[in-house]
Amino acid sequence: MNPKFNQKLFPLILTIVLLIQIPSYSCQNDPQYQTCSQPFQCGSLRELAYPFWGSNRPVSCGHPGFQINCQANVPFLNISSTSYRVLEVDNTARTLKVSREDLWDTICPLLLFNTTLNFSLFDFSSAANDQNITLYYGCGTVQVPIPTPSIPYQFNCNVNGSNSVSFYAAADASGPGNGVACSNNIYVPVNRTAARDLINPATASADLLRDALRSGFSIQWSAENDNCNSCARSGGLCGYNEDTAAFACYCTDRVHESTCDDSRPGNGT
Ligand SMILES: *[C@@H]1O[C@H](CO)[C@@H](O)[C@H](O)[C@H]1NC(C)=O
Ligand SMILES: *[C@@H]1O[C@H](CO)[C@@H](O)[C@H](O)[C@H]1NC(C)=O
Ligand SMILES: *[C@@H]1O[C@H](CO)[C@@H](O)[C@H](O)[C@H]1NC(C)=O
Ligand SMILES: *[C@@H]1O[C@H](CO)[C@@H](O)[C@H](O)[C@H]1NC(C)=O
Ligand SMILES: *[C@@H]1O[C@H](CO)[C@@H](O)[C@H](O)[C@H]1NC(C)=O
Ligand SMILES: *[C@@H]1O[C@H](CO)[C@@H](O)[C@H](O)[C@H]1NC(C)=O
Repeated sequence: MNPKFNQKLFPLILTIVLLIQIPSYSCQNDPQYQTCSQPFQCGSLRELAYPFWGSNRPVSCGHPGFQINCQANVPFLNISSTSYRVLEVDNTARTLKVSREDLWDTICPLLLFNTTLNFSLFDFSSAANDQNITLYYGCGTVQVPIPTPSIPYQFNCNVNGSNSVSFYAAADASGPGNGVACSNNIYVPVNRTAARDLINPATASADLLRDALRSGFSIQWSAENDNCNSCARSGGLCGYNEDTAAFACYCTDRVHESTCDDSRPGNGT
């Protein structure tokens, strides 16, 4: 062997290796896999991945019902045409902590509606131990001294130019009682500690009610959980095929239907 020859050859070999290496590295991964491999962030939520999408993360990286609308670093999510602020996300437990946007700035909302989720995608979290409180609006004149155990606190609401009395109570209380008639009521879950302090006349206050509503409640989500588990176990990234409106599994080679191990293509883009 001639060592001189090797020394001359080495840069040539290096160049060839680099020429082969660079293009093969840059097209190693499927484009959808590349696009969806980066989670996005909004405010304090740093790891928004499947099923969430929004900002520069396209719907194909998420599930249509999970668009995060990031406004001034505040993440909003619509569920059944109701806007919620997203306070926390737990990707492992698949839970969110959310707060109703209509009750964020006021305890006297203009439109009254119950806290109803789209139950095909969400459910109230049973693990969270949240409790409903009922807010009563448009209540008649009160004869009894307040507070009472069934009406720990009363407040006034001036909505649409008319002033009326409001209450809240534990949801299992059978209405405000004491002959008080209210024109409307809504239920909102709050955390257990907040619920306990709210129904205690000694600690009840409008500020506590505001804090409790802003602290939110926990919900769990289901977005193709089984498919997504199989896809993730096989090394893929979960997503959504807009053409077929079905789940898609993005793998380094191409788009698959449900896992990177299956042989069927996911009709991918
Ligand atoms: C609930 O979610 C399902 C699944 O994404 C969707 O088809 C349906 O339109 C949603 N319903 C409402 C009321 O938003
Ligand atoms: C969310 O719902 C609000 C009304 O509650 C509506 O104004 C807004 O357009 C909806 N946003 C999306 C992205 O659907
Ligand atoms: C206020 O007015 C709006 C629009 O007329 C109506 O939909 C809403 O129910 C009213 N709210 C209350 C609390 O009376
Ligand atoms: C909310 O649900 C309660 C209990 O089901 C019901 O009495 C009340 O009328 C509902 N409120 C609205 C605004 O739909
Ligand atoms: C609150 O009330 C609704 C309607 O009755 C119910 O579906 C939900 O499970 C309740 N939430 C909690 C935390 O008890
Ligand atoms: C429960 O709500 C209260 C506000 O009333 C808040 O201070 C507290 O941090 C909340 N606790 C949990 C565990 O979220």
